[in-house]
Order: sequence, then C-alpha cells, then structure tokens
Amino acid sequence: MSSKLKRTYGVRPARTSVSSPPSELSSSPPRAALKRKRPLMEHLSFTNTLSTKRSKRAKSNDKGKQKQLTQLHFTIDSSVLRTCPLCDLSYTTGAPDDESLHRSHCARVQRGLEWGREEERESIKAGVEEISSDIRLKNGTKGRIVCFRAEVPGRIGAKVQMLLDTINLTLSSPPLSQSVLQASKVYLFLLQSPPSSTAASSSRREKIVGCVIAQRITTAMAIVSPPSQDGTMKDPLPSSPIPVDPSTNLYVCPTPLPTPMGIPRLFVSSTHRRLGIASRLLTAAADTFILGYPLDPAKGEVAFTQPTGAGKSVLEKWGKGGVRIYEE
Ligand SMILES: CC(C)(COP(=O)(O)OP(=O)(O)OC[C@H]1O[C@@H](n2cnc3c(N)ncnc32)[C@H](O)[C@@H]1OP(=O)(O)O)[C@@H](O)C(=O)NCCC(=O)NCCS
Ligand SMILES: [Zn+2]
Repeated sequence: MSSKLKRTYGVRPARTSVSSPPSELSSSPPRAALKRKRPLMEHLSFTNTLSTKRSKRAKSNDKGKQKQLTQLHFTIDSSVLRTCPLCDLSYTTGAPDDESLHRSHCARVQRGLEWGREEERESIKAGVEEISSDIRLKNGTKGRIVCFRAEVPGRIGAKVQMLLDTINLTLSSPPLSQSVLQASKVYLFLLQSPPSSTAASSSRREKIVGCVIAQRITTAMAIVSPPSQDGTMKDPLPSSPIPVDPSTNLYVCPTPLPTPMGIPRLFVSSTHRRLGIASRLLTAAADTFILGYPLDPAKGEVAFTQPTGAGKSVLEKWGKGGVRIYEE
C-alpha cells in the first residue's frame, strides 16, 4: 500500500500544510480522497500457503503423463478487505490473525480497557494521582479522573502503551516519540462498571473510557478565520494564514506564540461519547498540568495537534475560540 494512503497525525496532508505555503497545498488531494485507516495487513506478518500447495501439485504432475497445461489466474478479490462500521478499521476477512486483532481492537474502541485490581495495586508506586472523583455524567454513570506521567513503568505503563496503540490505530497516527512521552502526562477517565452479581462484586471495577495526553510545549499558532472567497481577510494579520487541513477548514497564523500545553492525543471510547468526558479530561489537564498555574484555553494557553473533525468541534466548544495548533 502506498504510504500516501495512510492518514497519520504526523503525515496527514495538513501536517505538511502547516509548514508549507498555501499555494502548494491547493494541489494536494482533499482529505476525503486519502484513505484514513490502515488495513491491518500492514501490522501483521502473513504466512502464505500458496507455495506449499504449488509444490504438492507439481509433484503429482510429475508422476503422471505430460498433460496439457492450463494457465491459472489468481484474482486478488478486494471484497475480502472489510471496513468495520463500528471502529472504522480495514482488515482482511477470513485471515484469523486479522480477525482476532480486529475483534480486540473493536472492543477497546467501543468500550475501553479495563482498569483493574493490578493497576490499582501499582497506583501509589507509579505516582497515580486522583484529580477528581465522583463525577456524574449526563447519562447518570459515575467516574473519576486520574493523572500520572506518561513514561510510567510496570503494569500501568503496559496498559498505557496498549491504550496508545489503540488510539494510534484509530487515528492512523504514528507512536508518540520518547521525547514527547518524557514531556507528557496522561489523564484517564475511569468509569465505574455496573455492580456485578458475583461474590467479588465488592471490589471496584473500572474501565478506561477516555484519555488525554498533555505535553509540555513552547510555542503554537493561533487559529484564524479562513480567507473569504475573494481572498481578503476579515482581520489583517502579520503573515498570511496557512490551512491546517482542507477537511476541517482550519487556518492558522504561522507566527509562533508562547504556549505551555499541547494535546497530542485525545480519545473517548465510542459508546461513551457526547457525555462530556473529553471536556472534563481537558479541564482537568488545563487545571493541573503545571502545578499552581491553571491554564486558560480561552487565553491561548492550550494547543491541539492537527485535529480530526470531532476534535475540532471539541476544541471550539471547550476552548471557547482560544485553542491553538502546534506540530507534534
Ligand atoms: C473527539 C472526541 C475525543 C470527543 O469526545 P467526547 O467525550 O464525545 O466529547 P465531549 O462530550 O466532551 O464533547 C464536548 C462538545 O464538543 C462537541 N462535539 C464533540 N464531539 C462532536 C461530534 N462528533 N460532532 C459534533 N460536535 C461534537 C459538542 O459541542 C460537545 O458538546 P455537546 O455534546 O453538549 O453538544 C471523541 O469523539 C473521540 O475520541 N473521537 C475519535 C478520536 C478523535 O477524533 N480524537 C480527536 C483528536 S484531535
Ligand atoms: Zn470494528
């Protein structure tokens, strides 16, 4: 598959847009034309049984008399590639590895990952801090927000890695680099699972249904209104606006402005969206990322990397028009 077809945070068309002059961008393909998801094929190594079958047939042919040979053609049937409507992942049906990888990914995207007893046990050692508790969501369910540094080792570190893998696969994003992780904190929304009827019901069962990665950054660019049809700007700016992404119609002024916090990843599991989880996580991050210095998104103190459509809606509503954009 051509790398052009991948939609990753790092190589999404708008990424290049941010640092390139607008004129070059007008010829780039619209985002809708770029395939957003990577088929699982790229993540798996396949064993091809074709060669074994061929050699068997070749043997039996050798035994018998020389027959008229028929040319066989293999058609690569594109219909085996399926895109799941629930998690949006493309994978090969009939390939057991692909199917099972899809099943676990799909369950994580929809319902989140478990935050269990083992994670709780390691919490103190790992420096997990409870930022707020007893949060009641719009649908009546309850949860809490915890925070810890992104480079945490042990079981919690492994869980975060699994979560980030799921998020990256969903967004077709590259993994966050070690230097980004070193400068980041993880904020998780832990939703209380409904009480189970088994004897072990007394122990708290929780699911990680939302995640914000907050990163220490230095500068970001202010979002500006798009140029009008005749090319003129509503407000005159020191330098020409640059499109971030044609599909979200976001433009930034390329002048770097001092900005302390960036959000390189934001995710809420699909069955828990539109309950305010992302907004609460972002508020928790803005309030606590820098000790003793709560950040105000409306004042341009928070930036997102190139947002998705839903991400843009969140940054507009939660950020009250002040959120900036930065390159990861
Ligand atoms: C983007 C995402 C994190 C939002 O999480 P969420 O918990 O549903 O967001 P919230 O409930 O806090 O939404 C706050 C507001 O943002 C806006 N909003 C959020 N999602 C929206 C959507 N899909 N379409 C339109 N507006 C949306 C709404 O105004 C919403 O308020 P409302 O529900 O009262 O109308 C979630 O949809 C997600 O994980 N998507 C897939 C990954 C992704 O795109 N991440 C963003 C990367 S930048
Ligand atoms: Zn799926």
